[in-house]
Amino acid sequence: MSTNITWHEGAVSKEERQTLLSQKGFTIWFTGLSASGKSTLATALEQTLLHSGISAYRLDGDNVRFGLNKNLGFGPEDRTENIRRISEVAKLFSDAAVIAITSFISPYRQDRDSARELHEKAGIPFVEVYADAPLEVVEQRDPKGLYKKAKAGEIKEFTGISAPYEAPENADVHVKTHEVSVEQGVQQVIDYLISKGLVQADKLIKKDA
Ligand SMILES: Nc1ncnc2c1ncn2[C@@H]1O[C@H](COP(=O)(O)OP(=O)(O)OP(=O)(O)O)[C@@H](O)[C@H]1O
Ligand SMILES: [Mg+2]
Repeated sequence: MSTNITWHEGAVSKEERQTLLSQKGFTIWFTGLSASGKSTLATALEQTLLHSGISAYRLDGDNVRFGLNKNLGFGPEDRTENIRRISEVAKLFSDAAVIAITSFISPYRQDRDSARELHEKAGIPFVEVYADAPLEVVEQRDPKGLYKKAKAGEIKEFTGISAPYEAPENADVHVKTHEVSVEQGVQQVIDYLISKGLVQADKLIKKDA
């Protein structure tokens, strides 16, 4: 625990920053099984937002484990710490008036709820997106060959095989990636953001324009 620390307020308030930059920051949190499509959707969404002149930045599960979280494993405690750190980093990005897009399996409901609470306490919107596809489908996709390895016992504590996944009960957006295309999935998220006034419809480029 850190002691003897005092919060130092900036000279620019959150509202003033948003006005100066003409942008609101918030976090879009993707959750779902491995190969459910979190990174695929997050990448396409980030591209659409950036091409529309809206600042967005992806925090991706594997990428973050190359650096910031390279000292964490996949046991329950490390998974919780992984998500705690990412929640804090996403909050920093969104506080900086950027749209933070996270793509982590984030299998525990409690951890996702903590991430939401952290944001909401700071007055920052938090959008949970469930990238959902049945286990049979993701096992079939297996783009990284991880399910094959997990089933052969070569990877321990693999979500969906030997570790739990607690599906969201009330995700803000539920994308069934085995039923819709990547473009349709991204559009579902964008429609939600527009409906909540988080992005302006007239700012967004049409994908095929
Ligand atoms: N509608 C869809 N939406 C997203 N991905 C899809 C869809 N249909 C097929 N796919 C395929 O499913 C795979 C999803 O892989 P992706 O790496 O995005 O998963 P992930 O959820 O990020 O997994 P991990 O947790 O291992 O990082 C890709 O090969 C993608 O092309
Ligand atoms: Mg991924």
